[in-house]
Amino acid sequence: MTHIHFDPSLLESLNDKVVVLTGGATGIGRSCIQQLCENGAKVIFGDVAEAPSREIECRLSPNAQFFKCDSANYSDQLNLFKTAFQKHGRVDIVIANAGIAIHKDPFDPNADINEAPSMKEVEVNTIGALFTARIGMHYLRRSGGGDLVLVSSIAGFKECGGLVAYTASKHGVVGIMRGLHLTATPENIRVNVICPWMTKTRLVRGIEKGWYEKGLPANEPEDVARSILICATANRGQSGKTHGGARLPFAGKILWVAGGESYEIEDGIQSLEPKWLGDKNSQVLKQGQEYLASAGTSWDESKL
Ligand SMILES: NC(=O)c1ccc[n+]([C@@H]2O[C@H](COP(=O)([O-])OP(=O)(O)OC[C@H]3O[C@@H](n4cnc5c(N)ncnc54)[C@H](O)[C@@H]3O)[C@@H](O)[C@H]2O)c1
Repeated sequence: MTHIHFDPSLLESLNDKVVVLTGGATGIGRSCIQQLCENGAKVIFGDVAEAPSREIECRLSPNAQFFKCDSANYSDQLNLFKTAFQKHGRVDIVIANAGIAIHKDPFDPNADINEAPSMKEVEVNTIGALFTARIGMHYLRRSGGGDLVLVSSIAGFKECGGLVAYTASKHGVVGIMRGLHLTATPENIRVNVICPWMTKTRLVRGIEKGWYEKGLPANEPEDVARSILICATANRGQSGKTHGGARLPFAGKILWVAGGESYEIEDGIQSLEPKWLGDKNSQVLKQGQEYLASAGTSWDESKL
């Protein structure tokens, strides 16, 4: 684990950058838009919640522009990106933030087994993030490269009692980063993922009281927004300048955000692999995975 110390001077690099963000109406996304605009970025954001989105757009116009977009709908997301590209001629940073948590537990022993459970968490959190990543990669390529930041959760790498579908959906978001970053980095696109722990937004209202009684750490939405900006700016400093503790290239990283601080954990997970998998297994696995990620290798038999 590496504690990443935010260097505010890197925010200068956001000036005039074009950012597409999903889920900007409230909470973390809203705070992220605010911080981006304060630093001169132009943000085109999507959300399903129209009233709070229009309020942000009015307040931060012309730097923030709202486009109604359901992240689970592919053509909505295509139109969100098209709007950004048509208006600004490029896209530099993409942030897949939209997410939901359904607190009715489909694994509750008293739940009606004949009633199909909602899979909306998977549709918005995982499929929505895959859509953002796919379309985002297209526009980042057209702009010569950039940053893709995915918002997962503590539930993206840890057990998380009572939230089975949410946990599965957020593991999927970490999977998008792991599936994409090796081939994206040579295209000058850095893919990183943040995994916030408890953050004071409407998502956590049910557990807030007990959490504070136990004295457990919590993030403000602004802290998590800052962590997103760490990922979006780490590679943009002059002469290799970056945030304290960050290892360049800052790509394929996981930032765990807890108690307002950001910690990089993926490098530690990878470096400890021979310990938990065994030296021999780890070596042969490395060879196989390098082959899969190398140029010219394809799963598509029609390319043989
Ligand atoms: N609050 C936490 O403790 C916490 C912890 C870990 C991860 N996260 C993640 O952070 C992200 C932001 O959540 P938040 O805590 O700010 O909560 P939030 O509910 O305030 O923000 C989520 C935003 O996504 C939007 N949204 C929901 N469904 C959408 C859809 N189908 N299409 C487009 N937009 C949609 C909402 O309208 C809202 O603006 C989510 O991905 C969430 O899973 C939150």
